Amino acid sequence: MTIERMNELISILNEANYNYHVLDNPTITDQEYDNYLRDLIMIEEKHPEWKREDSPTVRVGGEVITGFNKVTHSIPMLSLGNVFNEDEIIAFDEKVKKIVPNPKYVCELKIDGLSVSLLYKDGKLVKGATRGDGVTGEDITHNVKTIQSIPLTLKEKVDIEVRGEIYMSKKSFQKVNEERLQAHESTFANPRNAAAGSVRQLDSTIASKRNLDCLIYHLPNPDDYDILTHKDALSYMKKLGFVTNHQNNKLVSNIKGVLSYIAYYTEHRMELPYEIDGVVIKVNTISEQQKLGFTARTPKWATAYKFPATEVLTKLVDIHFTVGRTGQVTPNAVLEPVFLMGSRISRATLHNEDYVIQKEIKIGDIVSIRKAGDVIPEVVEVKKERRTGEEIDFVMAKECPICHEKLIRKENEAAYYCVNNKCPAKKIEALIHYTSRYAMNIEGFGESIVEDFYNMGYLLDYPDFYKLEQYQDELKELEGFGNKSIYNLMYAIEKSKQNSLERLLFALGIRYVGSKNAKILASHFGNMDALMGASYEELVAIRDIGEIIAKSVYEFFKNDYNQFIIQELKSFGVNMEYLGKVILDDNFSNKTFVLTGSLDKITREKAKEEIESRGGKTSSSVSGKTSVVIVGKDPGSKYNKAKELGILIWNENEFLEKL
Ligand code: IVH
Repeated sequence: MTIERMNELISILNEANYNYHVLDNPTITDQEYDNYLRDLIMIEEKHPEWKREDSPTVRVGGEVITGFNKVTHSIPMLSLGNVFNEDEIIAFDEKVKKIVPNPKYVCELKIDGLSVSLLYKDGKLVKGATRGDGVTGEDITHNVKTIQSIPLTLKEKVDIEVRGEIYMSKKSFQKVNEERLQAHESTFANPRNAAAGSVRQLDSTIASKRNLDCLIYHLPNPDDYDILTHKDALSYMKKLGFVTNHQNNKLVSNIKGVLSYIAYYTEHRMELPYEIDGVVIKVNTISEQQKLGFTARTPKWATAYKFPATEVLTKLVDIHFTVGRTGQVTPNAVLEPVFLMGSRISRATLHNEDYVIQKEIKIGDIVSIRKAGDVIPEVVEVKKERRTGEEIDFVMAKECPICHEKLIRKENEAAYYCVNNKCPAKKIEALIHYTSRYAMNIEGFGESIVEDFYNMGYLLDYPDFYKLEQYQDELKELEGFGNKSIYNLMYAIEKSKQNSLERLLFALGIRYVGSKNAKILASHFGNMDALMGASYEELVAIRDIGEIIAKSVYEFFKNDYNQFIIQELKSFGVNMEYLGKVILDDNFSNKTFVLTGSLDKITREKAKEEIESRGGKTSSSVSGKTSVVIVGKDPGSKYNKAKELGILIWNENEFLEKL
């Protein structure tokens, strides 16, 4: 336990952090990181007098302040002007071109978080402050120090101020809200509120647990470092150890480039791990920025293109209950129809009773509705100030809306369940799920066909799909069907018998077994018999299979009826083996692939599957470790990065040839 060992541990951990967050290239395992950290904590506890300001142990929080001190920004923290459509973007460009004739722009993602100013003296973090009113912000240093992607020490001993955005990833947001629901606390409406709520805490332990992130995008004093362009400022800040969004930032030579950047991210924003609300456009050359100058509140050399709203207000006119395949009964809002992100919305999920109670949702409320990707819209917030007094309190259903069996609320769960195994609603949902894309992928079965076949008695459980061919002639006579559609259905059913085991496991609707866990189980056991024979201890010993999942899987296979169904499926020739065994192929094995741009002839998911089945790995970002970048149409910045790093590039056809 020497001071040298402490210094060495700090270097190892800071370096590991830098490799992980800045270079996107982890060099040690989580386990190793935790072990080093534990050793460091031990030394610091024994020798508090040795403790350094830049020790990674400050990330765990614990500092409690009594109030927020005011911080005056040396250069005001400006906001950005907004543009909302192509005409306004072009008008912005025209205005710029009146002062600088040939501007190059840097396009960046507009991260939906809160802006922060970070001050370093001699390479050490000394202050973190919010924007406040732009002139005066609040000192949030204690919380900023807990954010892993904000360096405590820079790679050079410089005095510098940088600015960026503190945000919460979609994954952390979901986790925080799930934990809050469990603890009967109110949930955050969006990741921005969650991030802002976390940095406004006096006790830094809270922020340290929220898994916040930070991306740096602005250097207010470029002249002090002889920096001539914004792009160079970003590179310099990255070199110092900051996380800049280098994978997604793009230098373009004209406004056309800006428009295609916007088009690309309008389509792909849902794939990003964090929420963005637009694209920021900045003139690249600093001297040109200076020529353009500022208005009172915003720079004239930059603007923000804002995506159309993802939230709208409407009236919640009623609450209906639906039964899912696991029997979970979900309250759903019936809405006055509104248009949001191109579709008409008249329903939104309310998740469960706790959600409605915590958000204090009443029938008749004006609510804000949000749509995140292809996820079902949800009610985020009630506009209580719009209440008239006529609103009606919500009462959770006590019985199944379909079979009227009494609902059960399981211990430690927010959801109510219909436990009647014969409940038709549950069965229809389960059958629909069985046919779905990531389950048995039986094309041609829309929800209504499954429901009709169920009601006519052709389709009561999974094995009945494989009995349908016996009724082909009757089915062809049904209204809306003909030779061709029945032939197609039979073909799709037959084809599904060849699916690899993980699809069947997912299709069976075992609680907590989504497609990811299904794959883990299938590849671990190799076939259905081995899985069915597994003990609880064997299941729980598998990496990524926790106690709850193990218990659910074990109980599912112990059930006589489930065993009978699996035997039936087997007797119809449904494959019970895992087919995803890796067959090593020199073109792919031990190599890391990155896909960019849109592929015409193969889906991304399939492409990844093909690579993995040949022993290759896929990654979402290009680094020195990438072996090949597969480039489709309109590739993103990953393509440029690959060229810069001299990484092997395949176009779609070359990739398909290799397959
Ligand atoms: S540049 C003078 N770049 O958007 C430069 N801002 O609506 C000012 N934001 O207050 C900021 N991502 O909180 C810039 N890549 C980005 C950004 C970004 C998000 C936020 C920032 C700013 C707000 C303006």
